[in-house]
Amino acid sequence: MDFSPDLIRLILNARHIVVFTGAGVSQESGIPTFRDAMTGLWETFDPGKLATPEGFAANPDLVWGWYEWRRSKVTHSLPNAGHRAISELAGLVKHLTVVTQNVDDLHERAGSTEVIHLHGSLHQPRCTVCGAAHVFANAAPVEPPEGRKIQPPACHQCQGPVRPGVVWFGEELPAEAWAKAHSAAQNCDVLFSVGTSSVVYPAAIIPLTAGQAGARVVQVNPLPTAHDEAVHEKLIGKAGEVLPDLITALRSELT
Ligand code: OAD
Repeated sequence: MDFSPDLIRLILNARHIVVFTGAGVSQESGIPTFRDAMTGLWETFDPGKLATPEGFAANPDLVWGWYEWRRSKVTHSLPNAGHRAISELAGLVKHLTVVTQNVDDLHERAGSTEVIHLHGSLHQPRCTVCGAAHVFANAAPVEPPEGRKIQPPACHQCQGPVRPGVVWFGEELPAEAWAKAHSAAQNCDVLFSVGTSSVVYPAAIIPLTAGQAGARVVQVNPLPTAHDEAVHEKLIGKAGEVLPDLITALRSELT
């Protein structure tokens, strides 16, 4: 893929770059996105019902089993070329912040060090009663049994039921993560919006905030998104193809 010399210069001269990511950046690692057809064990379950406080209260074993299935898929997946390119980009520019909607740890495992999780993490479960962080007994969960139900563990501190450490529909985003992400968006020179359909708020405000604050907003996606009219530039393609090409173009400019 070719990139405009203007974009290459803007990136290399930028004081601060934000890379805002969604499920699409993990798609090439084999992690299902949300709005593609549900795959595997859950094709008959509605995530809109499972990923809610009510869903967990009504059916803790089913919801916990769903998240253990997702954690198992992440644990048994690897960062892809898109994650690695984002990590490499940080080494070529002055300051880079990753703001992700994803609850996997693939950015971190690709070497990204400044990662803000707006929707929490599969790897940070906590007690529903006392809020204590829960440490998983086993690092790599097994696939849920055929019955699809796994009883949530009991809190080490108070024996209350442990819940996934992710933001559910209808819940507030973590205040500190939101404040940091919003500040980064207001103070960056370029924001890449990678692999997100841009339909879930308030997260989808982040690229709009960057644009309103004067940053160049560049979308990386093989398909149209709800932000197509709002972004300044569209790099049409997969993250695992476009971003490594961008790194190559930046490196050739630096030699
Ligand atoms: P979606 O499933 O809504 O969108 C995935 C996006 O990734 C789509 O725009 C795809 O075109 C794009 N895509 C697919 N493969 C790609 C690839 N290889 N490279 C680049 N892009 C690719 O996922 P999100 O936008 O992340 O919220 O969804 C946002 C939020 O909605 C999630 O964080 C979750 C969900 O409800 C919570 O869990 C709170």
